[in-house]
Amino acid sequence: MISERVFGKTNSGEEVLAFTLTDGARKVTILNLGGTIQSIVVPDKNGNPTDVLLGYNDVAGYQNNDGYLGALIGRFGNRIGAGKLTIDGTEYQLYCNDKGNHLHGGKSGFDKKIWAHKIDGDELVLSIVSPDGEENYPGTLKVEVTYSFQGGELKIKYHAVSDKKTAINLTNHAYFNVNGEGDGSMLDNVLWLDCDEIVPTDPKLIPVGGFKAVEGTAFDFNAPKEIGRDIDAADIDLKQGGGYDHCYMLKNKCGEYVKYAVVFSKKTGIKMSCYTDMPAVQFYAGNFLGQQGKTAYYGKRAGFCLETQAIPNNVNVEEYAARGSSIYDAGKEYHFTAAYKFEA
Ligand code: GAL
Repeated sequence: MISERVFGKTNSGEEVLAFTLTDGARKVTILNLGGTIQSIVVPDKNGNPTDVLLGYNDVAGYQNNDGYLGALIGRFGNRIGAGKLTIDGTEYQLYCNDKGNHLHGGKSGFDKKIWAHKIDGDELVLSIVSPDGEENYPGTLKVEVTYSFQGGELKIKYHAVSDKKTAINLTNHAYFNVNGEGDGSMLDNVLWLDCDEIVPTDPKLIPVGGFKAVEGTAFDFNAPKEIGRDIDAADIDLKQGGGYDHCYMLKNKCGEYVKYAVVFSKKTGIKMSCYTDMPAVQFYAGNFLGQQGKTAYYGKRAGFCLETQAIPNNVNVEEYAARGSSIYDAGKEYHFTAAYKFEA
């Protein structure tokens, strides 16, 4: 069941709506502002409703803070080095909003837009049209994102198509703490991540080439371990990221839909299983957090993100594009699915 209410107004007076998708005792709330997931409330092992998603109680929270809490990211998740996009010999200089690089779609990404909505049975469908030249990307891009919540599973289906050849790499920036948001840091959340390699970065977090095996390093989550166990280990990549802030390569080489991660809280008994058909996931440990949230101040590492997408900066690195290119011809359909399933 999906219900709708007014959540508030933006500082330019636009109405922000909240849609609540109810699944028995579980509820997910999504805003038309930025396609943002605002809360995910699920029962813990004792049946107590627990919100496992970081966010804000009002529109101002979303408009006045950075960190992209719960938001839909586009046109391009994570970084493009120097904002440089070349398509068939034409250079497009994208807006640089992060130390000389393009991050999460630029100055005014999809997270800042009011999306059109449609309720279709048990699905919420949000859509936007990003005009040709927006943030200097070529092509009018039509985007549709469909949310459903059934059997404890929040499923997000992404679909986009452009009328000119362009770059597309969407994701969602949900921060989780399976102890419950506001319950301090998430460092005791236990993570299993089915990945053998990460993508190393330069000091400004741009992947510039190569892969690094996780075996024997702090990056290895093939055997479940607390996220905080090795987060401060002496490792050049961890040092540069200020903790985990890296793209992990999934094992679904042919783009099949797989379970790639499970996160568990001993405290609440809540388990989150993650699925996707994208080739990679940005595992970000909330190293830059520092803002007032729904029930508490969210300090550094109050939540983590698992952002499924193609490799950041693959538009500038051939060996990354070979693992899933973000360049789409005019009329070529872009689509993928990501899901987060909750049990206790
Ligand atoms: C993440 C990214 C981080 C940081 C964050 C937003 O996706 O990996 O480096 O930019 O978004 O604060």
